[in-house]
Amino acid sequence: MIATRLHPDKQAAAQAIAREIADLIEIRSKSGKPTVLGLATGSTPLPLYGELIRLHREEKLSFRAVITFNLDEYEGLGPTHPQSYRSFMEENLFRHLDIPKANIHIPDGLTSDAAKHCADYEAAIHAAGGIDLQLLGIGRTGHIGFNEPPSAADSRTRRVHLDELTRRDNSAFFGDLAQVPHGALTMGVATILEARRVELIAFGEAKADIVRRAMKETPSAGCPATWLQQHPRCTFHLDAAAAKAL
Ligand code: GLP
Repeated sequence: MIATRLHPDKQAAAQAIAREIADLIEIRSKSGKPTVLGLATGSTPLPLYGELIRLHREEKLSFRAVITFNLDEYEGLGPTHPQSYRSFMEENLFRHLDIPKANIHIPDGLTSDAAKHCADYEAAIHAAGGIDLQLLGIGRTGHIGFNEPPSAADSRTRRVHLDELTRRDNSAFFGDLAQVPHGALTMGVATILEARRVELIAFGEAKADIVRRAMKETPSAGCPATWLQQHPRCTFHLDAAAAKAL
């Protein structure tokens, strides 16, 4: 069962979700527990990251006891490559916060042993106590993270091949389609479904059809976001344009 929450605009959505994250961090830190966040890239979470930075700067929200696991990374891009998700996260979030470097986890796009690296990534999530709150965007193929169709409900962190539609959609960041990698490392659907809470964000008319499919179609590997219907605590945060086809 997916809950929907309609927001008047991106900034209102960012404020509401940032407040939920801040509350979670505060509640857990009162009982001496770290907060484990699953983080996403893409253009959609940017207003939220801006709001988390503001809460840190202006309201003294501390990320010292936050542990993060990013969903995915492009294969072949190292941490200093400007389009790597590692660079994206550093630039748009981490360097503005007080989060310890050792608490940040992002798959390594340059790993020489993807199978071992992915198994270690799963083990690290488990060792941290599991993900308390997972943020997601959604791709127009129905991907979450980089779980392109077909992705089974029991898929784990692994190497995947990117859909051509995804490469085209993401080429805006690269300037040139030829520069977009063909592969990636991504948390699996099962990894995502194990998070205790899932908050998916989608804005704009271009996402309306895939949001409808994710919520209404029978769950199947052909549209991986449909697996979220099986999560006990998943909310889709939408603006009116993204909710248009519901
Ligand atoms: C990328 C990421 C996804 C993200 C999706 C949507 O492919 N791997 O995690 O949800 O793009 O991107 P955007 O938010 O830019 O629409």
